[in-house]
Amino acid sequence: MAASIGDDDLAEPIVVSSLPLETRFLPLQLRQHGGFWFPETILPGIAAVRARFAPRPSDVFLASFPKSGTTWLKALAFATAHRADHPPRAPDHPLRLRNPHDCVEFLEVPYALDPTADAFAALPSPRVIATHMPYPLLPERVTAEGAGCKVVYVCRDPKDAFVSMWLFAKKTAAAAAAEAANDDEPRPVPTPFSMEEAFELFCDGRCPAGPQWPHVSSYWEGSQRRPEKVLFLRYEEMLRDPVGNVRKLAEFMGCAFSEEEEAAGVARDIVELCSIDALKNMEVNQSGAQEYVKNEAFFRKGVAGDWSNHMTPAMAARLDGIVEDALQGSGFAFAAAEST
Ligand code: A3P
Repeated sequence: MAASIGDDDLAEPIVVSSLPLETRFLPLQLRQHGGFWFPETILPGIAAVRARFAPRPSDVFLASFPKSGTTWLKALAFATAHRADHPPRAPDHPLRLRNPHDCVEFLEVPYALDPTADAFAALPSPRVIATHMPYPLLPERVTAEGAGCKVVYVCRDPKDAFVSMWLFAKKTAAAAAAEAANDDEPRPVPTPFSMEEAFELFCDGRCPAGPQWPHVSSYWEGSQRRPEKVLFLRYEEMLRDPVGNVRKLAEFMGCAFSEEEEAAGVARDIVELCSIDALKNMEVNQSGAQEYVKNEAFFRKGVAGDWSNHMTPAMAARLDGIVEDALQGSGFAFAAAEST
């Protein structure tokens, strides 16, 4: 079922407390808006972005459904865009000192913390900014013909995205439980949910930025309509040919590798710097933390097909069936990822 995005649905301002509520995806409270479910703490940020964010024609947005390769795309795009100032082999490269999420911020997060401030105003152009917002919820100022902004989307097989999301949610729930236990004021301690409970919620689209499939197909449609402005990447393809995909990314962002850079192996150096093993072993990613989870939680296996170690064949067939039915007639299929 495609997300129905009516004008009324997206009317500003969002009255968060009046939106449908889902409390089972612990530790988050989700609310439905514009056909998608979001953590309720983020919704004021989405509304503020839509009302107030001022894009620049040179902006590049890195978009994704959660647990689909966001961290990797952030690292690759940051390293590619800033390679003149920060050569990928430099020992003090920002990605060796900071987590990719601290190098490229999510658009909606600072707006959720302070809807009136423009946290991105001070960033020099060209800005690289991430988002989990679905394509139809991006401000028209970003997606309109003539806006100039570019969008790079990374998509992942829904089964792998689900398994990654469930395992990540268990970690965030454990972190929230530890924090709650340390609080002076007693408050409810979130208990981790089972794989089966998480699966039911995912199949129903009741997860952060869910349902996953219209999130993906909305960007795919955008990339079909405006290929020069929306680049659609597949996580599985990036694993298969990381250097080729970094070249594609650089070209799309308007900073293709020169012959000299190709001869010097700069694209390969960027892939190496941003590989899961390299990032996982960096001190900042072993000991540092985001507000709600340790940095190490963002780097697990980083492979395609790990779902088969967690889901039963029946679960996989059910999710594949739901997705296939929902995407009928859209022109998009996840299966293409396996056949390319
Ligand atoms: P798994 O849990 O399947 O291992 P996101 O960045 O959107 O939160 O997605 C997280 C997923 O991307 C996790 O998948 C994680 O291991 C994987 N990942 C993180 N960094 C990566 C990298 N540099 N290369 C490939 N995959 C990476």
